[in-house]
Amino acid sequence: MTNVTIREATDKDIPIILGLLYELGRPKPQQDSDVDSFRKLVKTYIQESDKKLLVAILDDMKIVGMISMMLLPRLNRDTLEMYVPELIVLEKYQGKGIGKKLINSCITFAIEKKCHRIRLESGNQRKESHKFYKHLGFEQSSLSFTKNL
Ligand SMILES: CC(C)(COP(=O)(O)OP(=O)(O)OC[C@H]1O[C@@H](n2cnc3c(N)ncnc32)[C@H](O)[C@@H]1OP(=O)(O)O)[C@@H](O)C(=O)NCCC(=O)NCCS
Repeated sequence: MTNVTIREATDKDIPIILGLLYELGRPKPQQDSDVDSFRKLVKTYIQESDKKLLVAILDDMKIVGMISMMLLPRLNRDTLEMYVPELIVLEKYQGKGIGKKLINSCITFAIEKKCHRIRLESGNQRKESHKFYKHLGFEQSSLSFTKNL
């Protein structure tokens, strides 16, 4: 798909970004005040220099995907690690090369920042996205453990 461009997210994109996050299975607002605080969280994310939010735009109009990135310092490396908390392409537009474009932009940014690696987690149930990452050269290098509090 050639008419897809990748650009940095702006404040105007926030409602659509929140919609994409819900599609990814992130918690939905339970009350009106949640919507406001989620908006503020995305706004801060866009502004902070150690984070980046990119969106994929179809035909210069419609946001069809996004990727979020964070630069993390590690204690045993003098270069940063790039962590990718979220990557999503709207279901209707999957399988058209948009996820790859987003990952390639992420790789370009990580190289610019001289990161030593890119790391992400993908839920056990996301079998298709595991294949996608492996296809793009990512290796399964660890198990992830979480404890909900
Ligand atoms: C995972 C996801 C981001 C991939 O984006 P996409 O736009 O559908 O993938 P692309 O079309 O860019 O695929 C890029 C390449 O990966 C390959 N690929 C994609 N899915 C694949 C699969 N399930 N098995 C094997 N290869 C796959 C494609 O064939 C393509 O190969 P090519 O470059 O050699 O032609 C997207 O499907 C998605 O949003 N899924 C739901 C949310 C999700 O799981 N996000 C990841 C959370 S960790």
